[in-house]
Parts: sequence; C-alpha cells; structure tokens
Amino acid sequence: MKHISIGIIGAGTMGNGIAHVFSLFDFDVLVVDIDKSILDKAKSTIAQNMNRQLKKGTINSQKMTDSLDRILFSKSINDLKECDLVIEAIKEDIDVKSRVFADLDSICKKSTILASNTSSISINKLAEATNRPDKIIGMHFMNPVPIMKLIEIIVGNKTSKDCLDFIMDLSKIIDKIPVKCNDAPGFVSNRILMPMINEAALCLEEGIATVESIDEIMVLGMGHPMGPLKLADLIGIDVCIYILNILYNDFNNNKYKPAEVLLSMKKNNKLGKKTGEGFYKYEF
Ligand SMILES: NC(=O)c1ccc[n+]([C@@H]2O[C@H](COP(=O)([O-])OP(=O)(O)OC[C@H]3O[C@@H](n4cnc5c(N)ncnc54)[C@H](O)[C@@H]3O)[C@@H](O)[C@H]2O)c1
Repeated sequence: MKHISIGIIGAGTMGNGIAHVFSLFDFDVLVVDIDKSILDKAKSTIAQNMNRQLKKGTINSQKMTDSLDRILFSKSINDLKECDLVIEAIKEDIDVKSRVFADLDSICKKSTILASNTSSISINKLAEATNRPDKIIGMHFMNPVPIMKLIEIIVGNKTSKDCLDFIMDLSKIIDKIPVKCNDAPGFVSNRILMPMINEAALCLEEGIATVESIDEIMVLGMGHPMGPLKLADLIGIDVCIYILNILYNDFNNNKYKPAEVLLSMKKNNKLGKKTGEGFYKYEF
C-alpha cells in the first residue's frame, strides 16, 4: 500500500489539505491545478500548516522536510497517468467534474481508482462519464482535512467491493475514520446538515431570534461545537445554497428550498468568512 502514488486534481482548500495528509503518511503525491498561482499558494499553505504542527511538536523537522519533498505540483492533467489513485477536488459543478472524470478515464492506467471529494454531486452520474464505473467512489473529506477525522465514503451502484475495500483500508492508513453510505442526494452529511442551516436561517428571517441567540441555543443546548449560522459562514453561503438546490431538485420537496435570507446574502456577496461578511463580520 505504501508504494502507491496519489494524484490530486484541484489544489484549493480541500486539495491542499488532502495532499498534506497523504504526504505526512509517506505517500508520493502529485497535485494538479489549472491555475499556477493556486499551485504556488497550495505549496505555501501546506508548508505553513506543517510548520504549525512542527511548533506544536506533533511532527519533527525531518518529517516536515521529507513530507514536503514528496509533494510535486503540475499544471498538466496528463502527469496523473501513472497514479494509482486520483482524488478529484475541483469546483462543485457537475459538468466540469464530468469532463475531468472523462479525461482522467482516458489518461490514467486501467487499474487507477478515481475518487471524488464532492459534497453533493452524484457519484453514479460521475461514473457515467467513464468506462470504469467499478473504480469510481466518493471520498468526502471534511474541512480542515488535516484535523477532521471523518471521510464519508460514498459507494456508487457500480463501485466494486475491491475498490471500496482498498479505499477503506487506505483511509485508515492516513489515520482517518472512513464511514460508508450509498450514493443519494447530499449523501448523509449534507442531507442532515443543510436543512439544519436552512432552518436556522428561517428562524432569523422570521424574527424568532438573533444570529447570536440561534447559534448559542444550538451550541449550549445541543452540544454542537459551533452554531449553524457560524458554520454556514465557514462553509460559504453560496455553497450552502448550491447543495440545498441539489436536495430541493432531486427530492422535489419544498422543505429544502433555500431561505430568502440566504439568497439575499448571496446577491449582496455576503458569502461568509471568505468575503469578510456573512451572518457575522470577519477581519482578514
Ligand atoms: N471547502 C469545503 O469546506 C469542502 C468540504 C468538503 C468537500 N468540498 C468539496 O471539495 C471540492 C473542492 O472544494 P474547495 O473548497 O477545495 O474548492 P476551491 O475553489 O478552493 O478549489 C478548487 C480548485 O479546483 C481548480 N480547478 C477547477 N477546475 C479545474 C480543472 N478542470 N482542472 C484542474 N483544476 C481545476 C481551481 O483552480 C481551484 O484551485 C468541491 O467539490 C467541494 O464541494 C469542499
């Protein structure tokens, strides 16, 4: 297992975190992105995050140097051809992801497993873009990847048992806890989380409580580490709306319709932490 090489396509928030974790566990990693500036940023973010671990004493300087040396960066998808596993972490858009899966299918060797880190897009639909549906699987890492233990493993209709076993074993080697579910809109995590965020937004919209009170009630009353509105800011209001719309359309059920307050925040570019303002204000 140690000799397998990992490809990651998409070097943004999730891609650089996934590269970080695999390299710390001695895997060779090749990170591909279409944007050179994102690759440069990913390189420095990984170094910064490892430096934090170094200061905390969770890794030593030799481990950090070796791990950073194991990560290569490229702008060419063709460089992924020899990888044993490619994890896709590009933007959440079914057409763009399907094209990348079709390209990977023609570029990579026959035995390569193609995994997606999608938060909501159907693994079965991505598999349809390839001629290897038995080797397509969801590996839904949580943000921030180096810290969060869970990987939600999404099993498609045609995912083989060998592929699933391999991904479950590999996830444990990188000290994560893989938990399986079948392919369905929002999987388990977002099917439960997004309606909660939407209800919190509706409580605000209907004047039932303030932002702070809604979050405090859920933190103190339910033992959640963070209130739903603060969490929505962290995820991004645009991302929450995108996932709610997938649930709304796929289940054809009004209960998933994004709250007006979310839609107007998106219109005003109050997307949460990433734009400096969402339900709360943030300083950069
Ligand atoms: N951010 C989160 O909290 C989170 C959590 C779990 C899962 N996800 C999922 O992970 C995926 C990535 O999310 P993110 O937040 O890292 O996004 P991001 O916007 O930070 O990064 C996406 C990267 O993909 C690159 N990209 C786009 N098209 C490409 C292509 N054709 N080839 C190569 N690179 C391409 C972009 O240049 C960008 O750097 C999405 O599917 C998202 O739903 C995100």
